[in-house]
Amino acid sequence: MTSPIVRISELGRYAGQRVTVRAWVTRVRSSGKVAFLVVRDGTGVLQAVLQKTAVSPETWATFGALTLETAVAVGGEVRAEARAPGGYEMGADAVELLGASDPDYPIQPKEHGIDFLLDHRHLWLRSPRQAAILRVRHEVEQAIHDFFYARDFVRTDSPILTAAIGERSGLFSTEYFDEGTAYLAQTGQLYGEALAAALGRVYTFGPTFRAEKSKTRRHLTEFWMIEPEMAWCDQDDNMRLQEEFVSYLVGRALERRGEELKLLERDTAPLEKITPPFVRLDYGDAVELVRRKGSETVWGEDLGAPDEAKIMEEYEKPVFVRNYPKEAKAFYMKENPADPRTVLCSDLLAPEGRGEIVGGSQREDDYDKLRARIVEEGLPLDAYGWYLDLRKYGTFVHSGFGLGLERTVAWICGVEHIREVIPFPRMMERLRP
Ligand code: 4AD
Ligand code: MG
Repeated sequence: MTSPIVRISELGRYAGQRVTVRAWVTRVRSSGKVAFLVVRDGTGVLQAVLQKTAVSPETWATFGALTLETAVAVGGEVRAEARAPGGYEMGADAVELLGASDPDYPIQPKEHGIDFLLDHRHLWLRSPRQAAILRVRHEVEQAIHDFFYARDFVRTDSPILTAAIGERSGLFSTEYFDEGTAYLAQTGQLYGEALAAALGRVYTFGPTFRAEKSKTRRHLTEFWMIEPEMAWCDQDDNMRLQEEFVSYLVGRALERRGEELKLLERDTAPLEKITPPFVRLDYGDAVELVRRKGSETVWGEDLGAPDEAKIMEEYEKPVFVRNYPKEAKAFYMKENPADPRTVLCSDLLAPEGRGEIVGGSQREDDYDKLRARIVEEGLPLDAYGWYLDLRKYGTFVHSGFGLGLERTVAWICGVEHIREVIPFPRMMERLRP
């Protein structure tokens, strides 16, 4: 019997017709006379109902032998059923085995520990919760491209193997032929700056690597970062772009991934409030605020995660903490003319205890100051000749920022640990699967 092969998400268009769905078994239940077969195909979940008296003995036997995650083709008539997920179910008349599944499928409908789940990440991804998270991630990625495309930014790709170190955090390195040590890029920014002088406004979007020995819910050793870099843009323009950008990403997820957020049981009320402008808090005021709340952080130090949490107790929307002391931040940030102890930069802290999701700054455009900072930080000058050239040949006011994709998606999804929002997380103790 020929019938169209359709995906579960398309079933609504086939009500009253006979179709075939190819999918994996997630649940089987039988009363002896009526059997319920629940399958998923990545686009949705379908309940197929079989009447013993209405199907062939072979079909009934095939059903009886199904185990979790067996790949099957199920054929039958699509009918509206308000109580079914997606609003449709199938009166099945045929079940064909496409790919057997060993009965010892590791992930069973019961509670599993997180280490067990991560060891089985390749299978865990099949669960509805994980699939929903990845669909939100996909939406956010697409929204990033749409946002910058609409503003005429050029997407440029920066190298992953580099000689110049971008940030202070840990480095992964490897021997590189006769050229010495190569590092896996911690950031695409330095290359983004060269590209901004070529194209005006650009962004890079790729994996970045940090050998961080921090086992927190916010750190991965491989994460994805979006890094715009803009010529003729100062730190105020930079913050304005960030607040628009972050609000846009949240709005897109709300607008187009409501179903997934519901499945994740995300309370969307706090997300509805995310609109520009965001508060700008000077670093000095932030230190006073956290010290009043018991922190021991003193002027000059970077703010820790507990400090960030104290600040965000006061706000419902993201907050820029700006103009940190020079010694707390990276070498490339522009000295603040109003207070040369500080640099023109900001960290954007997300609400609901999420901490920093964006780091940005105006870049030092003075050749001598930048060179001095490179030396002060003990970085090898010879690796930065090309970067200094950008200040030697037509130096220009420019700024940019880096948004951590996983931290942003975890916040939007309301997922506690960022390891759950990347398909195959890399952490200190996890390189497999
Ligand atoms: O603040 P960071 O280190 O800034 C930079 O790398 C700049 N070069 C960006 C720029 O101006 N172009 O990192 C930016 C963001 C952080 O705010 C955070 O969201 C994310 O990257 N991030 C991490 N995400 C997951 N795991 C880690 N280990 C991360 N380290 C930073
Ligand atoms: Mg930072």
